[in-house]
Amino acid sequence: MLVAAVADNGVIGDGPDIPWHIPGEQAQFKALTMGHTLLMGRTTFESIGRPLPGRTTIVLTRDVTWSHEGVLVAHTIEDALALAATLPGDVMVAGGAQVYAAALPYAAEQVLTRVHLAPSGDVHYPAFDTGEWVVTRREPGETYDREWLVRARVSDSADPAVIWPVYDAVFADRDRSAWEEAWRTHSARDGFRIATVECDGELAGFAYGYTGERGQWWSDAILEALPPAVGEEWVGGHFELVELAVLGAHRSRGLGRALLRAISSVPHERLLLQTDADAADPAHRLYASEGWRVLGPGVGAGTVVMGKRPG
Ligand SMILES: NC(=O)c1ccc[n+]([C@@H]2O[C@H](COP(=O)([O-])OP(=O)(O)OC[C@H]3O[C@@H](n4cnc5c(N)ncnc54)[C@H](OP(=O)(O)O)[C@@H]3O)[C@@H](O)[C@H]2O)c1
Repeated sequence: MLVAAVADNGVIGDGPDIPWHIPGEQAQFKALTMGHTLLMGRTTFESIGRPLPGRTTIVLTRDVTWSHEGVLVAHTIEDALALAATLPGDVMVAGGAQVYAAALPYAAEQVLTRVHLAPSGDVHYPAFDTGEWVVTRREPGETYDREWLVRARVSDSADPAVIWPVYDAVFADRDRSAWEEAWRTHSARDGFRIATVECDGELAGFAYGYTGERGQWWSDAILEALPPAVGEEWVGGHFELVELAVLGAHRSRGLGRALLRAISSVPHERLLLQTDADAADPAHRLYASEGWRVLGPGVGAGTVVMGKRPG
């Protein structure tokens, strides 16, 4: 997790200093990080001057002779993260700009204090892809807002271990062995993609799909269910979104939307899914708000097929 205070103009520092003082902000940083591991660059550590109490500090430096009482030292970001993984609590990357940039590719979460100032300063927070990161929680304040962001990752990993912890919790009523069989079939298909999102160090949700083709059982079934002209236009060569699931404890945080956006970033002209026909159903509402529209009845009572043309 990256923890940073970022001004509206992206500034996080001026020389060795942070160019603002906001009462209460340090206390919040302390509350968030207490009991965890802080990873920071040598410059940031030296500007603080001492290890912060109640937290393990790892200082990143390329200088193999550097040491300081009460802190651990690492010389590469990979070594620092591997060391942190052996320690209790989470690893919280506490800056500065170089270390945020080095840690960002590995991070699943960011907690950003958005400071509503535009100070001058020569140290900036690294840019990140806002399409990939989603704000799941926002605590508004007077001079700053605090944002929790998580990253939805897309891959073509067919490792079923990726989904079962969430799958079993969300679909406890389903026959797991039938779905294991379905997973094996689906994950071997062309265009297979899975999006995952982690929260608090655990898998919180996933979405997956593949390229649907006529002749596949499901594509043929929806072709049958849809009005003929619609089926003709939409089915075949489309991206078939099979499943989207978020753990109950992490609902209402924007993760479903993050997963949907991530999994929809496939190079297909048409995307299809089946969902509850009830427009008030939370999943149906989510899809509609992301531009999916009802194309016709689905396979089975109370379902509809929804479609989207990205771009
Ligand atoms: N607003 C905030 O939330 C916040 C938080 C923290 C810091 N800051 C500000 O950020 C500024 C400091 O940031 P900075 O970017 O100049 O310095 P920094 O990231 O704190 O430290 C840079 C140093 O860390 C080491 N380092 C960085 N990347 C490394 C890597 N991949 N492998 C090994 N060592 C690595 C190097 O140490 P060696 O030179 O020893 O090799 C490098 O010179 C200050 O202005 C500070 O006040 C702001």
